[in-house]
Amino acid sequence: MKTIDPSEMGSRVFYKYMTASVAPRPVAFASTIDKAGNVNLSPFSFFNYMGIDPPIVAFAPNRRGRDNTHKHTALNIFEVPEVVINLVTYDMVQQISLASAEFERGINEFEKAGFTALPSERVKPPRVKESPVQLECKVIEIKEHGSMVLILAEVILAHFSEDLMDANGQIDQRRTDWIARLGNDWYARANESALFEVARPQIGIGVDAMPECIRNSKILSGNNLGQLGSVVSLPDRVEISAFAKTAEIAKILEQARYGCEYLPDLLHEHARKLLIINKVKEAWLTLLQTV
Ligand SMILES: Cc1cc2nc3c(=O)[nH]c(=O)nc-3n(C[C@H](O)[C@H](O)[C@H](O)COP(=O)(O)O)c2cc1C
Repeated sequence: MKTIDPSEMGSRVFYKYMTASVAPRPVAFASTIDKAGNVNLSPFSFFNYMGIDPPIVAFAPNRRGRDNTHKHTALNIFEVPEVVINLVTYDMVQQISLASAEFERGINEFEKAGFTALPSERVKPPRVKESPVQLECKVIEIKEHGSMVLILAEVILAHFSEDLMDANGQIDQRRTDWIARLGNDWYARANESALFEVARPQIGIGVDAMPECIRNSKILSGNNLGQLGSVVSLPDRVEISAFAKTAEIAKILEQARYGCEYLPDLLHEHARKLLIINKVKEAWLTLLQTV
């Protein structure tokens, strides 16, 4: 392991380690306005949904590393404490990157980056028409610490494109195509091909309660142990004996008897394949054949 004390390295260098590790981060495309009515639009990946009741988002238009000055987004929020957070899809990524360039204060990045400004209903900054989720927010708190400028904002009105919805009016995650920021110039794309599901855990037996030969298996991975540890109880002797008579186990027993392969390895390998297709009970019934 490379161990770093940030105070010895310097925050600008440490930043590279942090942004490549605390990643991928969602991107808030923040629309703000100054008291003269000039609109600003900039992306921020130090951003997330933080509170549920009431709904709170947080993002950080931090001071510029170069000269410690405030970003236009922060200056606007100091004057008009409102923001529209627009979420960013893959189709928008080159334009949001363009909007992140250091245009002069007062320059409207909707125009520079080619986005359409849509009037908001409850706040003064406009929304980004091209964004499928637009959150109208009131700023509730600003916390400054060193170069950090952390904005906490309450979502008071949210707009979701019908294109994201399933038949029940819920967002179908497979219909979204969000982008996220990582270190340096890296981005990630969370579309259907990158998504997978993990079932909500129950209070399972846990890895510590497994027979040692399974816990220390050279074939099963940490993910496999996580799946196996999520069961509430192990199958009983009757179930295990009944499973021994299935064709798949009979085949493995025969292979071990007449081949030169070691039975526990064959069983662990078979269980590993069952876990890939989420057959956790069958995996346990397989593993317990020799225990
Ligand atoms: C995807 C992306 C994410 C960014 N995230 C942040 C961030 O979280 N905080 C920040 O201070 N700057 C961030 N930046 C840089 C700002 O967008 C950039 O400094 C911009 O010029 C600020 O605009 P403003 O001065 O008009 O507010 C990010 C840039 C990009 C492209």
